[in-house]
Amino acid sequence: MIEIRGLSKTFIGQDGGTVEALHEVDLDVHRNEFLTVLGPSGCGKTTLLKTIAGLIPWDEGDIRIEGAPVRGPGPDRSMVFQNFALLPWATVLENVAFGLRMRGVGRAEREERSRALIDTVGLAGFESKRPGELSGGMQQRVGLARALAVRPQVLLMDEPFGAVDEQTRRLLQEELLSIWEEHRLTVVFITHSMEEAVLLGDRVVLMSARPGQIAEIVPVPLERPRSGDVGAVERSGQYVEITAYLWDRLRDMHAEHRPAKAAG
Ligand SMILES: Nc1ncnc2c1ncn2[C@@H]1O[C@H](COP(=O)(O)OP(=O)(O)O)[C@@H](O)[C@H]1O
Ligand SMILES: [Mg+2]
Repeated sequence: MIEIRGLSKTFIGQDGGTVEALHEVDLDVHRNEFLTVLGPSGCGKTTLLKTIAGLIPWDEGDIRIEGAPVRGPGPDRSMVFQNFALLPWATVLENVAFGLRMRGVGRAEREERSRALIDTVGLAGFESKRPGELSGGMQQRVGLARALAVRPQVLLMDEPFGAVDEQTRRLLQEELLSIWEEHRLTVVFITHSMEEAVLLGDRVVLMSARPGQIAEIVPVPLERPRSGDVGAVERSGQYVEITAYLWDRLRDMHAEHRPAKAAG
């Protein structure tokens, strides 16, 4: 579905220094897969997602979706951002309908589809509120509904639940699982939480920093559907085992970057 080959990207900072954010990354995302990407801060996760979205150019390599090379943003991909990125002056309904409007979908259909999605994400009754009147969790529900409104094949999510409190995060995780179980989109979900990566993912891509590379891909053979009883998933032996393994690997990565202690 998504094929990434030899993807490299170097940023040039304002001081003229360079940061190699991605170094020859190869990655396949399968159709209808829920792929989670985990790695330390600054390892290139956002850069990877933005290149797939076609939002930023890269230096070398190739990204294909269903065989077609990515050359920019497209209707097949939607992105959900950590900071929601909603239009502050527009209502919930207008925000959700925004992408449809940009694509020339007529008003009646736009509203019908948007209202249905607002309902799906649990915001019925809030259609005419503005983002500033909503909690962080509710704003991210709007972000999710907006992304889904254009019926993308691929949903790209950049730490979408990183800015909400723990309880809201759990509710949103359950809801995202149940939406995915029903619609079976291809999801690439970035997180810095091991628990979240395992709870949601079919596979966890572990990235290492400087330069950003894929260190390992860890399969998550936990049963689905998982949305019904997230607590039971988290208590299972397999879940505990996989999260512990990821923690070991992340700790090793940090150790590799720590200056060695002087002997003696
Ligand atoms: N626009 C930019 N200009 C310069 N450096 C950047 C830019 N965007 C990202 N970087 C650098 O590239 C590296 C990877 O960044 P990013 O993809 O945001 O990492 P992550 O999302 O994993 O935290 C970091 O060192 C970051 O400082
Ligand atoms: Mg990031």
